[in-house]
Amino acid sequence: MKKFRAPGKLILSGEHAVVYGNPAIAMAIDRFAETAISWQPGSHAIGWQNGSKLSKYALDKTISKLDIDMPCGLEAVIDSNIPRGCGMGSSAAVIVSIMYAISSLAAINLPIEYYAKLGREIENLQHGRSSGLDINVSLRGGCLRFENSKTIERPIPEIPMYVVNTGMPEITTGECVAAAEKYLTSSLLQDFAAVTNEFDQALQENNLVEIQNCIRANHELLTQIGVVPKPVQEFIAELEQAGAAAKICGAGASAGEKAGAVLVVTTDNMDAIAAKRGYSIFKIKGVTHGVQNISG
Ligand code: MEV
Repeated sequence: MKKFRAPGKLILSGEHAVVYGNPAIAMAIDRFAETAISWQPGSHAIGWQNGSKLSKYALDKTISKLDIDMPCGLEAVIDSNIPRGCGMGSSAAVIVSIMYAISSLAAINLPIEYYAKLGREIENLQHGRSSGLDINVSLRGGCLRFENSKTIERPIPEIPMYVVNTGMPEITTGECVAAAEKYLTSSLLQDFAAVTNEFDQALQENNLVEIQNCIRANHELLTQIGVVPKPVQEFIAELEQAGAAAKICGAGASAGEKAGAVLVVTTDNMDAIAAKRGYSIFKIKGVTHGVQNISG
C-alpha cells in the first residue's frame, strides 16, 4: 500500500490574472488530501472509497501517461479535510496525491516538473484553463510566486491570516474563469500584476500596513471582474471598516451568493462580524512541505 498526502492552498494575490501569465502569490496550508492505493490481486477492477469523477480521471490519466503495467486491480481510498470547491485547492491536492501514490506503487519516480505538467492537464478537466498554480503549490509546499508556469520560493508569511468560508459557489472554477475573462482587459491585467508585485515586495519586508493596502486593492480589482458576489462584498466592506483587509482567494463566484474562501488579514478580532452572517472564521497556517509519502 502506498499513501501520499498533499496540501491545499490559499492564493494571497493574483488569482484570475495568473491564468493569463501574470504573477500570483500562493501558500500551501495545513489542510490535506490523502490517497492510499494498493494492488488487489485476483481482481481486475479499480475499487474506490470517496472517489469523484475528477479522482477517477486523475488515476486513469496517470496510469495511461506513465504507461503503468497493471498486474491486477487496485483499491484507492481518498480522504480530505480541505473544503471542496471553495478555492482552497482541494482538486489540486487530490490530483497530486493520486499521481504520487500510483507512481510510487508502480515504483516510478519522475521529476516534479513532469507532475506539474500532468497535474495541470488533469486539472483542465475541471477548470478548462488552469494556470497550474494550485498544482504547483500542492506539489512544492511553502509560499510561491508563480508566473508563466515558473515558481520562485518565498518565505511563509508571518502576518496574522484568517480564512472565512462563505460557502461553496454555485458555479465551477472553470465557469468562473470563463465569465471573468471578458472583463480582463490588458490594462486591468496590468493593474493585477502591479498589485501582486507590490504585495510580493511588502510581504518580503513584512510590512503589514502595505500588505493590507495591497489586499484591499486586489479586492477592488476582483470586484471589477465580477467574481465577488454582493453579500460577500458587503461582508468585506464591513471587515474593512473594522480595520481588516480581505479578499476572496481562488476563483470566487460570478453567480450566486457564495464565494468560497475569503482571506482576512487583521490584528483585531473579527469573530462577531463573521458570526453575524453565519460564517466561521479560523486561523490559517502555512506549511513548508508539499506532497509527502506517509505510507509508514
Ligand atoms: C483557482 O484556484 C485560481 C484561478 O486563478 C484559476 C487558476 O489559476 O487556474 C481562478
